[in-house]
Amino acid sequence: MKNVVISGTGLYQPPYVITNAELVQAFNAYADLQNARHADAIAAGTQPALVHSSVEFIEKASGIKQRYVLEKSGILDPTRMKPRFAPRPDEQLSLMAEIALSAAQQALAAAGLQGKDIDGVLCAAANMQRAYPAMACEIQQAVGAGGYGFDMNVACSSATFAIEQAANAVRSGSAKRVLVVNPEITSAHLEWRDRDCHFIFGDVCTAVIVEAEETAVSAERWRILGTRLVTQYSNNIRNNAGFLNRCEDTDPDARDKTFMQEGRKVFKEVVPMAAAHIDAHLRELGFEPNQVRRFWLHQANLGMNQLVLRKLVGQDVGDDLAPVILGEYANTASAGSIIAFHLHRADLKAGDLGVICSFGAGYSIGSVVVRRD
Ligand code: COA
Repeated sequence: MKNVVISGTGLYQPPYVITNAELVQAFNAYADLQNARHADAIAAGTQPALVHSSVEFIEKASGIKQRYVLEKSGILDPTRMKPRFAPRPDEQLSLMAEIALSAAQQALAAAGLQGKDIDGVLCAAANMQRAYPAMACEIQQAVGAGGYGFDMNVACSSATFAIEQAANAVRSGSAKRVLVVNPEITSAHLEWRDRDCHFIFGDVCTAVIVEAEETAVSAERWRILGTRLVTQYSNNIRNNAGFLNRCEDTDPDARDKTFMQEGRKVFKEVVPMAAAHIDAHLRELGFEPNQVRRFWLHQANLGMNQLVLRKLVGQDVGDDLAPVILGEYANTASAGSIIAFHLHRADLKAGDLGVICSFGAGYSIGSVVVRRD
């Protein structure tokens, strides 16, 4: 079978930062406004008062210190609590395609390629900007690629699932070089008015080039030794926004039309699944977890990653074995493990083994075992 490599990666970082202090200040101002507006109902006991959020809780419970966003003023406006995006005419490049193009161009440059060298584009993300035409078709054109493009959504595992599709396409010969992009505009699906989750997400876009080893021209290559995907249905992370909403006559702003989760349950159920998944994948390929030089794990919660690693290698590990980008970027849905891979691999040597692994809604888990050529 053809050897397949990751030959380049790219990262688009949005222009604005929201610190936890700024976020909590906006949330608390929103809560005060709501409590004043509903003072009578709260006094009568028919409606609960909103409780303030806290920086200390956010940092302790999640490890998140700040997040990057594409638009900041709308999120921090206590009378709005969501980003403010201007609609674009159909002739203009759409927002998802714009950030995908930026990440893609970096990945192409890193791989020593041009857009025309690509003949497959997968736009893989937790949310798509529109129903159709597929975002991937627009990105394909913007990049100057040939071949085909399609969209994929497996929530937080979209990127790793897409890397498997890309590797299989290259192995089977249905594409020569595939561009995988993960434009995650999570600020638009996050419920900034919900204290339980308002701190979780940030915006970003990552890109990965997958091609045959024999055609790769880049100096740095990561051979894909194996991919392994699993899904198991759960309602614990859910978003009911969809094209049937208007026919159901439901409120498009209702709580279930943005990200919702039972965080505790997710933590408890996904940790053992992810650890067992990675362990089984490594053993299937003839490796032990302690032979892995670096784990680029999904970035949702610091404690979650620490527990997954403790189960895998039997001890507490530091940033060198499992880098954490969560503090700076927050949870960026499917892009998190790819950001970690993009930023923290330069020090690894030829022959070093690594695991990229995502976990999230579905539940879904995707692992990609790589070795530096
Ligand atoms: N500020 C202050 N206190 C808060 C708060 C906030 N923003 N949000 C919740 N709290 C309080 C709760 O009211 C609760 O108080 P109580 O004990 O008096 O009832 C307490 O903190 C614990 O709340 P809980 O929701 O159980 O927190 P947690 O420790 O489970 O942490 C998450 C919450 C979301 C950080 C954590 O569950 C998590 O990261 N889970 C995994 C999420 C995940 O991977 N999701 C995938 C998404 S793609």
